[in-house]
Formats: sequence, C-alpha cells, structure tokens
Amino acid sequence: MEKYEIAVIPGDGIGQEVVPAAIRVLEVAADLHGGLAFKWTHFPWNCEYYLQHGHMMPEDGIATLRGFDQIFLGAVGLPQSVPDHISLWGLLIKIRREMKQAINVRPAKLLRGLQSPLREPNDFDLIVVRENSEGEYSEIGGRIHSGADQMAIQNAVFTRKGTERAMRYAFELAKSRRNHVTSATKSNGISHSMPFWDDVFKDVRSGYGVTDTASIHIDALAAFFVMKPHMFDVIVASNLFGDILTDLGGAIMGSIGIAPAANLNVEREYPSMFEPVHGSAPDIAGKGIANPIGQIWTGKMMLDFLGFGEIGQLILDAIEDTLSAGIKTPDLGGRATTGEMTDAILQHLRKR
Ligand SMILES: NC(=O)c1ccc[n+]([C@@H]2O[C@H](COP(=O)([O-])OP(=O)(O)OC[C@H]3O[C@@H](n4cnc5c(N)ncnc54)[C@H](O)[C@@H]3O)[C@@H](O)[C@H]2O)c1
Repeated sequence: MEKYEIAVIPGDGIGQEVVPAAIRVLEVAADLHGGLAFKWTHFPWNCEYYLQHGHMMPEDGIATLRGFDQIFLGAVGLPQSVPDHISLWGLLIKIRREMKQAINVRPAKLLRGLQSPLREPNDFDLIVVRENSEGEYSEIGGRIHSGADQMAIQNAVFTRKGTERAMRYAFELAKSRRNHVTSATKSNGISHSMPFWDDVFKDVRSGYGVTDTASIHIDALAAFFVMKPHMFDVIVASNLFGDILTDLGGAIMGSIGIAPAANLNVEREYPSMFEPVHGSAPDIAGKGIANPIGQIWTGKMMLDFLGFGEIGQLILDAIEDTLSAGIKTPDLGGRATTGEMTDAILQHLRKR
C-alpha cells in the first residue's frame, strides 16, 4: 500500500465546497485502486484567517507544509474584505515561490458531453506550460510621488534558468503527446525580455531534433485559441501570458469551473500544489452550485504526478460519462448542485 500525506487548504468561497467534493472522488479512486491511500490534513488558512490573525498563514506555515507529500488547494480571495494582492501573495504565490513550484501545467480539451461555446471546436486537446516563478509577476518595482506626479514601475524578470526549465518541461511533455511545442512570444512589442525568450526557445529546441515547433505572438495566439484551438499541442508561455491563455482555455472548454491546474516542483524536492484555474467565485459561494469538475480534474493531475495515471484517467472518463448523461451545474447550462454532480461522477467511477 502506498500512502500519501496531503495538506488540504480549501481557502475561500467555493474552495470550501469543491475541495470536499474532490476528496470524496479521490477517496473512491484510491479504494478502487486498492494499493493507494491518502491522509488528508486540513488547514484553515484563508481570508477569514487573515482578518483574525493579520496574516494568511502562520509564520511557520511553509515549514509545516514542507512535511507533506503534496498540497491540495481550493481557491483564495475575498475581495470585498481583503485586497487580492494581500490574499494571493500571502498564501498562494508565497507557497508557489517558497516551494519552488516553477512550472504550472494547465490542460484544456473538449470534453465528451460538453458543448464548447466555439462554433468549430474540432476536438482540441492542448496543455499550457506556464513559467510560474518569475516573468511579469515579479516583486521588483514600486510606487513614488503623489497626485499628478504619481508613478508605478513593475519590472519583469526572465532568467535563463527559469525560462529554460519551462521550455524543457514543455518539450519533454510533448514527447508523450503529439510532439508539437508552440512558444507564446511578443518580441515585436516587448523589446528585451521577449527576444531573450525567443533566443532561449531556439537554443532549447535545437536539443530536441524531431519536435515540431512554432513561435506565435500572444495576441495572435489568443485569437487562434478561439478560431482553431485544435492546432495546438503543448504551449509554453511566460507567467502572465500563460495565466491569461489558460482562463481562455477554460472558457473554450465551456466554463472556467472545469479547468484544472498543477503547480509543480519538477525536481520533487518540495511538495507540489494542485489547485484549479478558477478563483473563489464570491458571486456563487454558499449557494451549493459551484462546478466541482475543475477541482476533481485537478485531483486527477495529482494522481498522474504521483504515478497513478491509470486511475486518474478513470476519473476523467467518469467526468465525461457524467456530462454525457446530461448532468451539469448551472455554469454549464444545467441544474445540478455541486453534491449531485459529485454523486454522479462517483457513480460513473464505480462503474468503470
Ligand atoms: N487560484 C486562486 O486561488 C485564484 C484564481 C483566480 C482568482 N482568484 C481570486 O478569486 C476571487 C474571485 O475572482 P474572479 O471573480 O476574478 O474569478 P473566479 O474564477 O472566482 O470567477 C469568475 C467567474 O467564473 C465563475 N466560476 C468560477 N469557478 C466556478 C466554478 N467552479 N463553478 C461555477 N462557476 C465558476 C464565477 O462564478 C464567476 O462568475 C478574487 O479574490 C481573485 O483574486 C483566486
């Protein structure tokens, strides 16, 4: 029996609703496998915690998480009470950075049983590999002066090490797929970091002889996501470009509520963190109608990373069976509650 200790941070809003749903599914998946067990340890770190304690997690929070195999997170953010930059930087981004989770992997595919809002989705199946530790989301910069003289500077940081790491991950991933890598660039408008990004892409590409590649400006690439997403296999993107593209990835699948993600420490020195693309959705929190698929599919990505890809695939199959049976939450045009959707996925999982 292989046992894994998982730190669970449901976070805010619908995170509190979809995380328990995904844990139910992972527990059944582990039972079906027979040789896998999870121990879940919950942490109440969120915006309520911040309002009580003045910080999003205790001072030894990172040291505590360090002792776990993986981290399973819902979503963070209560913008009406805590500014987003405090909640995200105090928990989510802090964990990503301190645990050196430098790669963010976000798939988007046309699921069986779902209608994409695109007129011709053509069975797309792509994965965005987002650089997750630097780029445009750097802490370097500041604000000076006041009134009409006010100004803000935000510096983007691109290191060869960080850029190469993301690109190598993308090329390695492409080997197990359709062997095509697209680089998201903007070297026609951003004159230092993006030509550097292109140079590193060329260097890394030269080490992967047979892989088919393309380099496309992010604005055109976003349009291609809408017009012909089936042209993509693996896309490697900077932190900001990858962030924006993957919300679009969720949208063309049918809802951001189904888009999964993994923040990986590829060296496996630290725990990785699995959290869906969506946020805490304050507009629907507490209503019991959040779509649990993003969080459940994220759980499947955790199983893949732990080496249980076969059982992970069964979860995705069960999600597609459920959608094909017409069971959908309101974001997908249906009437099912979070609980009903989860029950249906569990039923289909048990049948597989
Ligand atoms: N990883 C994270 O923790 C993360 C990511 C994005 C946003 N946020 C935070 O979440 C808060 C809300 O942000 P936002 O409104 O921009 O983005 P959001 O993803 O929370 O919501 C955007 C829209 O999508 C809907 N939606 C999202 N997930 C859904 C689900 N599972 N089922 C059904 N509908 C779903 C929401 O109802 C909303 O209409 C903010 O505080 C933001 O900073 C956190």
